[in-house]
Amino acid sequence: MQTTIYSPTQEHIKLLADQLQANEVVAIPTETVYGLAGNARSAVALKKIFEIKNRPENHPLIVHFAKPDESTHQAWTEVLAEWSREIPEIAIQLAQAFWPGPLTLVLPKAKSVLKEVTGGQDSVGLRCPSHPVAQAILKEFGGGLAAPSANRFGKISPTTSLHVTQEFVNVRDENFLQHHLAVLDGGACHIGIESTIINLCDWSTTGPTLLRPGMISIAEIEEKTGIVVSEKIKSSLRHSGGLMAHYAPKTLLSLKKIDFKNFVAIPYHRLAYVYRNLDHVALEKDKFPMIDFYLLPESAEQIAHNLYSQLRELDTKSYDEIVFCPLPLVGQWHGIMDRLLRAEQGSGTANDPSHL
Ligand code: TXA
Ligand code: MG
Repeated sequence: MQTTIYSPTQEHIKLLADQLQANEVVAIPTETVYGLAGNARSAVALKKIFEIKNRPENHPLIVHFAKPDESTHQAWTEVLAEWSREIPEIAIQLAQAFWPGPLTLVLPKAKSVLKEVTGGQDSVGLRCPSHPVAQAILKEFGGGLAAPSANRFGKISPTTSLHVTQEFVNVRDENFLQHHLAVLDGGACHIGIESTIINLCDWSTTGPTLLRPGMISIAEIEEKTGIVVSEKIKSSLRHSGGLMAHYAPKTLLSLKKIDFKNFVAIPYHRLAYVYRNLDHVALEKDKFPMIDFYLLPESAEQIAHNLYSQLRELDTKSYDEIVFCPLPLVGQWHGIMDRLLRAEQGSGTANDPSHL
């Protein structure tokens, strides 16, 4: 498949919004990761997304929309009512506190929402992204765009336009649905990992539940809104980020802290060790010539911002193994660890034919 990167000029935004109107698929930047966008009201466009991404059709997609002209209670209610038949007050509270931003709300779907968006379920995922280029194209398009992350199913999400082209350039479009993929450039995604997903479908019985942790932590939600989100995934909803193996590099990845005092190198086993200073004070790196050391930045924000590009880069270096030092499992770290745990499960699939 051919790909072209478009700079985010007004002219290009108009051109690509027209392509979206014509049921083409266009890769767009968001503040979390790049998305593979198509008209959420068009079964033709949605079919193309699944084909290009090689994603099973029963996995639901998130619908993205532009922010209303004024972010009032009434304005959010009107936007949500286009997609959801039941809008609890907490949905509006969350929208007012965190939208536009990296938060997805799962709500009971409106009748008009296509089954291709929801994976045949009775709910719909909704998000208003904050990236100015995402907002610009959503506004120009004038409707909802269904957009999964712009990677092949199960692989690492792209956080630059170049990553998107690398994901799809070698993909054979066997059904000739779309020979050419336009990628709208918005620079490196600021957040770096996918949005936090909250399920509000069972809010009256179980309360809001966390479906996917992200950089908006449940602690931040409680602090800003008083809304308590339960971490237990009791819901039977299907969500692909909920599969164990996901976000995976081809190189074998493991999550463990290396005990360098007792470390015995395996001959010819080249290791990349990604660690924090905090975990290894006074590390004598020279003693371990088979290991390349990669120091992580201090904050969770900085780590998330670099995480996927770092995994992609390490994946090009022919290491026998990437070892990632575990991070805490709370707050914003939880979102990062969630991706690393899934990457660990799915890694080492260099010969997976679906990736060729
Ligand atoms: O940050 C993000 O959310 C990015 C950007 C592009 O917006 N999108 C993204 O999409 O990560 P995707 O398709 O890669 O992941 C969406 C997740 C999946 O785990 C999907 O199953 C879940 O959202 N999801 C979407 N609609 C849902 C629904 N109705 N019920 C349960 N889970 C849903
Ligand atoms: Mg994804």
